[in-house]
Amino acid sequence: MKTFSIVGYGYWGPNLLRVMDSSQNIKVKHVCDLDEKRLKEAKEKYPDYIYTKNADAVFEDKEVDGIILATPIDMHYPLAMKAMEHGKDVFIEKPITGSSDEASKLIAFAREKKKILMTGHTFVFSPPVRKMKEIVKSGELGEIFFITSSRVNLGIHRKSISVIWDLAPHDLSIIYYILDEDPIEINSSGRDSIIKGVPDVAFISLKFPSKIVANIELSWLAPTKIRRTIIVGSKKMLIYDDSDPVDKIKVFDKGIEMKDPQTFGEYQLTYRTGDMYAPRIDSAEPLMVEMESFREAVETRKTPLSDGEFGLRIVKTIETADKKLYASL
Ligand SMILES: NC(=O)c1ccc[n+]([C@@H]2O[C@H](COP(=O)([O-])OP(=O)(O)OC[C@H]3O[C@@H](n4cnc5c(N)ncnc54)[C@H](O)[C@@H]3O)[C@@H](O)[C@H]2O)c1
Repeated sequence: MKTFSIVGYGYWGPNLLRVMDSSQNIKVKHVCDLDEKRLKEAKEKYPDYIYTKNADAVFEDKEVDGIILATPIDMHYPLAMKAMEHGKDVFIEKPITGSSDEASKLIAFAREKKKILMTGHTFVFSPPVRKMKEIVKSGELGEIFFITSSRVNLGIHRKSISVIWDLAPHDLSIIYYILDEDPIEINSSGRDSIIKGVPDVAFISLKFPSKIVANIELSWLAPTKIRRTIIVGSKKMLIYDDSDPVDKIKVFDKGIEMKDPQTFGEYQLTYRTGDMYAPRIDSAEPLMVEMESFREAVETRKTPLSDGEFGLRIVKTIETADKKLYASL
């Protein structure tokens, strides 16, 4: 059993608190938020915790093993630093920080103090994403040619950050987790369709050392909600549709083979359209798996899957993509 306290109970914090509250292995001690109304709402639901506006008081509590940070991005760095100074292990919601410089400093400090530093990249704990990685690594799809990913809906327009900072951490975490490599080329472009200076649509393209290319489409402005990743390989193709309530992953035995031309210019293409199947996927809730992973890391002192370094890789890519996005406006 480990004791955790949550700092930040806005839009996302309640999801983290819900899973911690229902875990047999986690004891929640404090809920901290600057907003009185948010604290009152939480207290009505969970009357037994300590409610406070003062994060320092939470960090000073010797009984607390780990801090769960679900504040806006600009508070991640100062709060995580302070929590570690007080000897706490820290789980930070994605993205780890607002800059790679801050992320590197957190990683170095965590190493020095021997603290667990984990980033909340929920998708790497999601059973469909894990299944997708398993399929790719098994070689079933053959050589991976390219990946396309779409994350669009008629979403909340954030005023202080671009659509890339808001949505790209998800797709990047999925792609980096599956491929285990970092891009050698990052490009992006987009548009500030509604609020001038706030990009609400972006297209990121990545090129990896393995020659795999990827494209990520992100938008707060779309007629329907799409959460979809397509992986195209030399043998088979795969679609991961997170909005599909039943078959989130479908594997298609489809492809095109090219025979060597017999005479100059005569290419022979053979189209293969075989069966499709949807693999059985574990029903575990990703957030629960994520919180239990943090608890396990705190207990065993083993590096969690989405550690500070993983968070940094994503922030580095976002910085480059975001710069190119603004340059394209
Ligand atoms: N994993 C996911 O799918 C997912 C989804 C949404 C948001 N997030 C992440 O969660 C984090 C929070 O996002 P959100 O949408 O909930 O933001 P939000 O603005 O709705 O909530 C943040 C809360 O933090 C509180 N806060 C700010 N500074 C504080 C301080 N110093 N001490 C105590 N409380 C403080 C605010 O009062 C607010 O209630 C962000 O990092 C975001 O990227 C993750």
